[in-house]
Amino acid sequence: MCGIVGITGHENVVTDLVEGLRRLEYRGYDSAGVAIVQTDSVRVIKQQGKINDLERVLPWDELHGSCGIAHTRWATHGKPSKLNAHPHSSGALAVVHNGIVENYTALKVRLEGKGHLFRSETDSEVLAHLILDQYDGNLETAVQRALKLVEGTYGIAVVHADEPDKIVGARRGSPLLVGVGDGANYLASDVAAIMGHTRQVIYLDDGEMVVLTPQDVTTMNVDNQEVTKEIQEITWDLERIQKGGYPHYMLKEIFEQPQTVLDSFRGRILPESGDVKLGGIQLTDRELLAIKRIIIIACGTSWHAGLVGEYLLEEYARIPVEVEYASEFRYRSPVIEPGTLCLTISQSGETLDTLEAMREAKRRGAKVIGITNVVGSTIARESDCGVYIHAGPEIGVASTKAFTSQVTILILLTLLFGRRRHLGIEIGKRTIEELQRIPDKIQQVLDQSAAIRAIAEVYAQHSNCLYLGRGVNFPIALEGALKLKEISYIHADGYPAAEMKHGPIALIDPNMPVVVISTRDSSYEKIRGNVQEVKARQGKIISVVTEGDTEIAAASDHVITIPETMNMLTPLLSVIPLQLLAYYTAVIRGENVDQPRNLAKAVTVE
Ligand code: G6P
Repeated sequence: MCGIVGITGHENVVTDLVEGLRRLEYRGYDSAGVAIVQTDSVRVIKQQGKINDLERVLPWDELHGSCGIAHTRWATHGKPSKLNAHPHSSGALAVVHNGIVENYTALKVRLEGKGHLFRSETDSEVLAHLILDQYDGNLETAVQRALKLVEGTYGIAVVHADEPDKIVGARRGSPLLVGVGDGANYLASDVAAIMGHTRQVIYLDDGEMVVLTPQDVTTMNVDNQEVTKEIQEITWDLERIQKGGYPHYMLKEIFEQPQTVLDSFRGRILPESGDVKLGGIQLTDRELLAIKRIIIIACGTSWHAGLVGEYLLEEYARIPVEVEYASEFRYRSPVIEPGTLCLTISQSGETLDTLEAMREAKRRGAKVIGITNVVGSTIARESDCGVYIHAGPEIGVASTKAFTSQVTILILLTLLFGRRRHLGIEIGKRTIEELQRIPDKIQQVLDQSAAIRAIAEVYAQHSNCLYLGRGVNFPIALEGALKLKEISYIHADGYPAAEMKHGPIALIDPNMPVVVISTRDSSYEKIRGNVQEVKARQGKIISVVTEGDTEIAAASDHVITIPETMNMLTPLLSVIPLQLLAYYTAVIRGENVDQPRNLAKAVTVE
């Protein structure tokens, strides 16, 4: 999704702005551009396509300036095109914008009436004209006046040639942070963009603005009152957002999972008492016991993790759980009674629907625990308390390691709630012992990657695929199908295996690959029947079975095994082959695995 970088104070910012945009590529975008402040104008260069396409059209020899802003755009209003790309300019002013200006039509009519000439189809361009319209020599004042007229969401960076070393940023509903440097300062929508320059970061909150010059950072609100902000230190390495020898980030992230799952539970388990300790959850035992119902709110892959959580929390902690799509939750009139806890799950911590749903839950009195990966993200900051999943930066648009880490946290939360209710010490201890073995077991599944690639070779050119699972593996079927469609563009559906006969069975013929997750658990006998139903219709069966299984294996065309584990922990293993299957299928089809078409890493619009 759209990305912002701004730099003031480098000798020549062009190369560093482009480098910053590159670090935002993973978020997904369709065009890019830069605005460099020059002697009496702001030079704007933009291009449809990738950063390489932009680089090709940059007049490097002519572009010099110590202050500039840059943007990667993901189309919302107006198609992907050079004209619609940001920055947008008006006179000697340029702006980049993430978010949506909801009242742009009314503003545009008014500004056109005053002689402003619009060139693009975007809502964002209105900001350039609006701010210029308010400009009388001081950029922050103009931004403040303009933003009072704007309805909608924004993260913006603005420059004006009359104040050549100044960048003004403002935020409402779209992330923005400041990098504090030495003789140079930075503005970005994502810390990855500026990490090569500084690790000192200020996260802006909604309603806040910042004025940057090479020497100073001044934070204020839109009413021009100064706001004091804390500088935070980024502790992870730039290396963690590089590919480390893998051809794609997604493959790197799949293979990191033995480590990332370990990082998620390390230091949080209490093996002696079969319990867990989560530093971010400051609830007393009494408060934990007062929780009567849990609502899980998320989108996409995080929603699938939530579905796994529903099975775990209901079965082992005996708390009623509902899992809601954030986009639906926020516009219903959800019933929040005393004792309702809301778990908000989001890798990025910035997904707008999830954030707004969380705010709605808070308004209605729910206590909110945020489960996020990105430290300092908006959801992490606005939830009542939270748990970081510690998966490290996830760059591939299709989420993999964040999913297994989210599930790991949900397992820990199940133990936390369960041990204060009906879950005995023995099962608590056994779960923790087994959880400690999971990283090695994930590695055992990863070791079969060549065999999984061979299966992908057989089916890569098919047009459809069905995924079936039962119980805790039903959400894994959904996640497997989502992974495949996200990156290979093959139509795929996930179903509870028994539900197949109410519809999808009509699709089964010798051309339909069916991935069946049939691990040894209480639903094994039932799913064996479902496998036979597929076989009877000559569907091609790819089974994910527990090591040592012979019955389902015998009925299948292809078999992938996962090590035996406790039912509660199975999803951490059963999802791995499905991630690999999707990955290899997309690679064989020649698709852009890390940046699939139309998708974005963090969806910061509705
Ligand atoms: C986008 C991403 C998905 C992700 C979803 C939710 O659609 O492409 O991979 O699962 O957003 O994102 P979140 O950051 O809230 O987990």
